[in-house]
Amino acid sequence: MPVTKFQVAEKYDYLHGFGSYHESEAVKGALPVGATSPQKPAYGLYAEKFSGTAFTAPRGENLQSWLYRILPSAAHKPFEPIKRLGNTSFSQPLHHIPNQLRWDPFNTNVNADWTDSLHLVCSAGNPCMKQGLGILIYAAGKSMETNEAFSSADGDFLIVPQQGVLDIQTELGRLLVRPREICVIPRGTRYRVSLPGGSVRGYILELYQGHFQLPELGPIGSQGLANSRDFQIPVADYTADTETEWHHITKFNGEFFTAKHNHTPFDVVAWHGTYYPYKYDLGRYNTIGTVSYDHPDPSIFTVLTAPSDHQGTAVADFVIFPPRWLVAEDTFRPPEFHRNTMSEFMGLIDGIYDGKERGFSPAGASLHNIMSGHGPDAEVHEKASNEDLKPVKVGDGSMAFMFESCFMMGVTDWGLHECKKVQPDYSDNAWGALKPSFDLAVDRKTE
Ligand SMILES: [Fe+2]
Repeated sequence: MPVTKFQVAEKYDYLHGFGSYHESEAVKGALPVGATSPQKPAYGLYAEKFSGTAFTAPRGENLQSWLYRILPSAAHKPFEPIKRLGNTSFSQPLHHIPNQLRWDPFNTNVNADWTDSLHLVCSAGNPCMKQGLGILIYAAGKSMETNEAFSSADGDFLIVPQQGVLDIQTELGRLLVRPREICVIPRGTRYRVSLPGGSVRGYILELYQGHFQLPELGPIGSQGLANSRDFQIPVADYTADTETEWHHITKFNGEFFTAKHNHTPFDVVAWHGTYYPYKYDLGRYNTIGTVSYDHPDPSIFTVLTAPSDHQGTAVADFVIFPPRWLVAEDTFRPPEFHRNTMSEFMGLIDGIYDGKERGFSPAGASLHNIMSGHGPDAEVHEKASNEDLKPVKVGDGSMAFMFESCFMMGVTDWGLHECKKVQPDYSDNAWGALKPSFDLAVDRKTE
């Protein structure tokens, strides 16, 4: 299956290519040629720089775009603090717990829009210091108001829809994002989310530090995993509204503020650069695995990675477990038992994950924090230890994913208590039935 067969048809045009320098104009001639900031930009537009890295970041990491818009984003009233329905979780204390945690499917609040429905489940680090990440659940029932926009100054949002279609209008253009697609909305990008098909639910990794990259391919070669050309970037699309009062809500160090504009923030007529939103169809992932014995580490399933300052160690990896063939001989095929120095937050978009046949449901989640032992449940272990090792396709109709981080995750009060979804008996249910099968009568080796 080279691409996902979506139930809702695509309706927007896109540019293609992860990390490429792109340009787009909704009006011919709106993009200046050569210079970026002419004395008088075409059509009376304002030129505005939008940076995602320091100006002096190395060329390979440098993310900057130039926007040509009807009014600059500076033209607004002062921001004022607001308290929204659900988002107090962003300022809650964190609980660091060595136990395995698993959540039943999170509830959708039909009265909440995108902004109201955001809840922080767990996090590490601090947006102020641009360190770490947050893991959020969204579960909304209605579109944002027609004159409302949202942005986060705290980090990049990697959005993983589990249910429902997101129609996202951003400053740089529009994206339609459906379950089995993901999108990344960079820090500071203003956007509005409408729900053409009703309720939506999904997961977000907010990256406080750096930006996502494609993983290195090493001996795999020049193509494989998520291919650059499959990432889709919106084309410039603007509205010309300088009459309506708009509200811009921003998340700033976990607090929410709002400011009034007397014009739409979606007035970018043309843009060029390297700092932009993008989306990706997980069905296009080129999955790689063993064709002999043992299975490689799950890093082989990395779609996007956000590296730390230490080479090969990620602040966050986004990893998927797509449908794939298992052919390994004399091999225990499900994910093995393990304890890792990385913490692992897993979610399930649909279907059944091959390592956990019961209790891990679509829209649910699990967190196996640093050095928290886990692996296949007793039932899966028994079955996999005795099955006939013919080639078999696993994960058909399923898509599980993992947010993996080098940091220890702390869980908010919302994640631990208020959501009321933590499974109290997860550990017992998963591994309580494991029995030793070691032959106690075996002779100890003596020299
Ligand atoms: Fe794991």
